[in-house]
Amino acid sequence: MCGIFGFVSTRELPVALVVDALRTLEYRGYDSWGIAYATSERGGERLAVFKQAGRLPQTLPPLPTSPIALGHTRWATHGGVTDENAHPHLDCSATLAIVHNGIIENYRPLREALEQVGHHFRSGTDSEIFAHLLEDSLQRARRVSESTFSEPPGLLVEAVRQAFAQIRGLNAFIVLHLPSRQLVAVKSTSPLVIGIGREGVFVSSDAVALVGHAEQIYYLRDDEVALLSPQGPRLFDRCTGELRQPQWEPLTLRPADTSLGGFPHYLIKEIHEQPHVIERILRERLDGARQLAELIRRSYGTFLVGCGTAGYAALCGSYLFSRIARRHVNAVIASEFKYQEHFLTDRSLVIALTQSGETVDVIEAVQAAKRRGATVAALVNVTGSTVARLADFTVPLSAGPEQSVLSTKAYTAKLAILLLVAHILNGSEHVGIDVLWRAIDGMELALAPATLDRIRAVAEQLVNAEHCYVIGRGLSYPTALEAALKIKEVTYIHAEGFAGGELKHGVIALIQDGSPCLVFSPLDETRPDILSGAMEVRSRGGWVVGISPEPDEAFHVHIPIADVGDASPLVAIVPAQLLAYELAVRRGLDPDKPRNLAKSVTVK
Ligand code: G6P
Repeated sequence: MCGIFGFVSTRELPVALVVDALRTLEYRGYDSWGIAYATSERGGERLAVFKQAGRLPQTLPPLPTSPIALGHTRWATHGGVTDENAHPHLDCSATLAIVHNGIIENYRPLREALEQVGHHFRSGTDSEIFAHLLEDSLQRARRVSESTFSEPPGLLVEAVRQAFAQIRGLNAFIVLHLPSRQLVAVKSTSPLVIGIGREGVFVSSDAVALVGHAEQIYYLRDDEVALLSPQGPRLFDRCTGELRQPQWEPLTLRPADTSLGGFPHYLIKEIHEQPHVIERILRERLDGARQLAELIRRSYGTFLVGCGTAGYAALCGSYLFSRIARRHVNAVIASEFKYQEHFLTDRSLVIALTQSGETVDVIEAVQAAKRRGATVAALVNVTGSTVARLADFTVPLSAGPEQSVLSTKAYTAKLAILLLVAHILNGSEHVGIDVLWRAIDGMELALAPATLDRIRAVAEQLVNAEHCYVIGRGLSYPTALEAALKIKEVTYIHAEGFAGGELKHGVIALIQDGSPCLVFSPLDETRPDILSGAMEVRSRGGWVVGISPEPDEAFHVHIPIADVGDASPLVAIVPAQLLAYELAVRRGLDPDKPRNLAKSVTVK
């Protein structure tokens, strides 16, 4: 979940460049941050380290230039949120600096062994172990080198290979080796992407941080080690140490893709991008949807898996396939999938839904499916990601970088593709296309000032609420769950989504005078029943906000939305996303970086 970044160059580059990259990567974690760079100040070359707990400050004292530097933004796992536990970490000789994303699962015995041979630890993290392990491996490799190795680059790669072989878990590291002025990148599952640009060689957890620096990129593979020197990168096989020839690809992201574009926060920018994303899907992803439909047609048992918002998209997909394609598709939370994988055969199809393509639970679900011979398809936003590479077939979401921790446009993008696929399976592709064009108009309406005024009025009422309930039925049940998730993760109001029919089986006991309740009521078969539920809440003093194409006497406030048939989940979620944003702003919270969360959950 942490963000890591480094550069090496033939000339001096501003170290501030690392800090700017960390700002782009901060969505991956923001418990602490830190940088390390080579400096010749005060005579002799040494490593300068600056790190502290908390978020990156808006302004920093001027930073120098350096030919080599790295940085880290942390989502704490092992070791509290303190300055000492912030990365980078150094070895005892202070000539190696490392930044880490992941968890070294066997950190305890390794630390004990290293302490016994005299290593001194400065932090309580698992990460620091790698610096000391590497220091040891380097010393050992140096001793052997008298007979085997002749040049320092070979030594460093060998030492990294050896140190990495000793650790367990899903990890990515960048190592800065001061004496040779080189970086080494190595990983297992956690992502790393290398970039080459005019100014030097760069490496990052995410290609978004390479925008403006690199023209060509390469996603490092698990069985490789990259040695990055000022003259360029070299790749080695992690098992044999043999040199490899990577296939570089152009970096297609542009600065506008990652900028705020005039919006105050990424969350609101990304909410507003949704109509364009759906339009792009209609223009670019029809073929992908047709191929996915064919895979489903040929499979015997289809599973949609995802986590968080993507898990709710999966659930919504199961309703869409049922009503549109008359097809049973299982929706399973990815972290629970391994407990149900026994059903899988070589005729099964597992469709992984994931924005980042790096969520470890999704990766494990995909790996389990592959072990059992199932076919794996993926709806994924980050095209070079682990899931995209593991899958047999991928439909890219085409949503552009999603930088707010809350997932919005990737959610509706997944729904749009699933809806299209369901219609293709049903032989009604043109109907799917038509309903999505209507959904685009419906989204625009939901984003229009008149709707926003109503949402702001609701936000004023809810700003000090402690609890909020959200109900929907049928296609709107996943919408209720996703709406509640949006509200709770960014406002810290306890929001619970329920299937409307479950209200009277317990939940209604929570309703008291003034309890806010959002009700999703599209003009479908669920309307009479969900309105009865809304009335039951109202009769017990609940304050009912209806998100619906039509008003109703059950609603204290009506937020009108377009009637878009089966595409209602794409449109109905927009007012809820806006409400979550407006509430966060009113409560003085950062809409892009909610506490304790990270966008890309690469640890278990
Ligand atoms: C985290 C994020 C959520 C996201 C989930 C799954 O929990 O905070 O917004 O829905 O991960 O992420 P993925 O990248 O797999 O869609």
